[in-house]
Amino acid sequence: MSEYVIEMCDIVKEFPGIIANDHITLQLKKGEIHALLGENGAGKSTLMSVLFGMYQPEHGVIKKDGQEVKIKDPNDANRLGIGMVHQHFKLVHNFTVLENIILGVETVKGGLLKMDDARKRVVELSEQYGLSVDPDAIIEDITVGMQQRVEILKMLYRENEILIFDEPTAVLTPQEIEELMKIMKNLAKEGKSILFITHKLNEIKAAADRCTVLRKGKYIGTIDVAPASKEEMSEMMVGRKVSLQVEKSDAACGEKVLEVEGLSVHSKVGGKHLVKDVTFNVRRGEIVCVAGIDGNGQTELVQAITGLMKIDAGKVVLKGEDITNAHIRKRNTSGLGHIPEDRHKHGLVLDYPLAYNMVLQRYFEPQFCNHGFLKFDEIYRYSDALIEKFDVRSGQGSDTIVRSMSGGNQQKAIVAREIDRNPDLLIAVQPTRGLDVGAIEYIHKQLVKERDEGRGILLVSLELDEVMNLSDRILVMYEGEIVAELDPKTVTVQELGLYMAGSGKKEA
Ligand SMILES: Nc1ncnc2c1ncn2[C@@H]1O[C@H](COP(=O)(O)OP(=O)(O)OP(=O)(O)O)[C@@H](O)[C@H]1O
Ligand SMILES: [Mg+2]
Repeated sequence: MSEYVIEMCDIVKEFPGIIANDHITLQLKKGEIHALLGENGAGKSTLMSVLFGMYQPEHGVIKKDGQEVKIKDPNDANRLGIGMVHQHFKLVHNFTVLENIILGVETVKGGLLKMDDARKRVVELSEQYGLSVDPDAIIEDITVGMQQRVEILKMLYRENEILIFDEPTAVLTPQEIEELMKIMKNLAKEGKSILFITHKLNEIKAAADRCTVLRKGKYIGTIDVAPASKEEMSEMMVGRKVSLQVEKSDAACGEKVLEVEGLSVHSKVGGKHLVKDVTFNVRRGEIVCVAGIDGNGQTELVQAITGLMKIDAGKVVLKGEDITNAHIRKRNTSGLGHIPEDRHKHGLVLDYPLAYNMVLQRYFEPQFCNHGFLKFDEIYRYSDALIEKFDVRSGQGSDTIVRSMSGGNQQKAIVAREIDRNPDLLIAVQPTRGLDVGAIEYIHKQLVKERDEGRGILLVSLELDEVMNLSDRILVMYEGEIVAELDPKTVTVQELGLYMAGSGKKEA
C-alpha cells in the first residue's frame, strides 16, 4: 500500500498563452490536511480541477492508493471518492438547499424521490458539523456564506474520502472559519484526506499538516507546517519579503462626501427589516469601515447606496446631491465607485474580454467613444495600462475572457478599474477577498493612497485584521442597525468582536 492516497505526478496543463501547471507534483497522505499555497494565478485551482476530472492534463499521471487512475470527468472523481468545493460555487440558483445537495445522487423509490430520507440525512449532517442551513431555502436568497455550507454538505452527503476545498474560508466570517478548521480536523481524524487552498497563512498554521507551494505554474516545494513561520511561507510563495502590516498616517478629514439618513430596507418577502434606520456619513480623507458578522445588513446597506436595491425609507446624499432614487449610471458618473461583494454577479461580465470589463461604466465617455463608435484602440490601450499597473495576470492580457481568469486576478481587475476611475466615494466590499498576501499589501496601499488624496472610502469587511489595520473609524452593524461607532486606535479586537456579536449593544 502506498503512503499516499493521492499522487499527482509531473502534471502539465496548458491554456492559451499560459502554462497553468508546469510539471507539478503533489502527494497527499491519508488523513492529512494538505495546504496548497501560491499567488493569484499560480495554478492551484487548475491543479485541483485536474484532480477532480474537470480538465485533462497534457502530461502526467494521477495515482490513487498507488494505482494509476484516469479521471475523465467529475463523475469519475466522485466514484473514486474525490469531492470538491469550488472557489466559485456550482449551485443551481433557483433550487432549494436540499435539492442542490441531493442533485445527481437522488434516491428514488417507485419512481418517486425519497426526499424524507435525504432531508433527515442533511439535517443530521448539518447538526453534526455545525453547518446550520435551512434545507428549504432557495439558493439565490441565501448569503455566500450559507451557499458555501451547502457545498460542504454536498461532499459530506456523498461520503467523499478525499475532500478538496478551494478557498473555502474566503467567504466565511472569523467565527465560521474557526468552526470550519475544527470540522476539517475532525474529518481528517476520521481518516478523510483534505486538500485545502487558502491565502491565509494563519489558517495554514492552524489547520494544515503539510503545505505545497506553487509559483507561476511551477512546483516550489512541500514543507511541514509546524516548524515553518508565516514569513518563510509567504516568501516561498512570492519570492520576496512581504509586509503584513499597513502603514498610514492619521486621517485628515474634509467635507462630507456621503450622507446616509434614516435608511431602511425591508426584505422582499416577510417585510423583515434588513437595514433599520441607519444614519452615518463618510468624509473626504477617511476610511470608514462597516464591520459586522456576515448577514447583518451590510450587503443590503451597500446595495441601497449603490442603487442595486430599492430602499423603503431614508435618504442617500452624495457630495450634497440627493441620489436616493438616482439611476446607477448617474451614481457612477457622479463619483461613486463600487467594489462589489459578489464579483461575478455585480462586478464583471464574465464572457467579455478583460478590456471591455475595464470600461464597463465608462465606454460612452469621449475618451472611449466617438459619435457612438467605440474606440477600441483606446479601450485596449487603457486596459493594457491598468493590467500593467495592477499586475493583473492572465493568459492573453486584455483579450482574455474574464471567466477563464483566476479568482484573485478577477478581483484585481475590479479593484484596478474602480480605483482608477478616481471616485469621490469608493465603496469597497471585501476588496481583498481571495487575494494573495502580496496583492493584499498592494491593494491596502492603494486604498490608503486614495484616502490621502482626499477621497472618502467606505470599507465593508468581515476580516478583523483588515478592519483594525485600515480603518479610521469603525461602524458596527448588528441586525440591520449601526450599534456602535468605534475608534480603531482605542478599541481591542475582543471588544470589536463583542459588538459584532450584539453584546455591546446596551452600552452603545
Ligand atoms: N479555463 C481556462 N481557460 C484559460 N485560462 C485559464 C483557465 N483556467 C485558468 N486559466 C489560467 O491559468 C492560470 C492559473 O489559474 P488558476 O485559476 O489555477 O490560479 P489560482 O492559483 O487558483 O489563482 P487564485 O488564487 O487567484 O484563485 C491563470 O493565469 C488563469 O488565467
Ligand atoms: Mg483559484
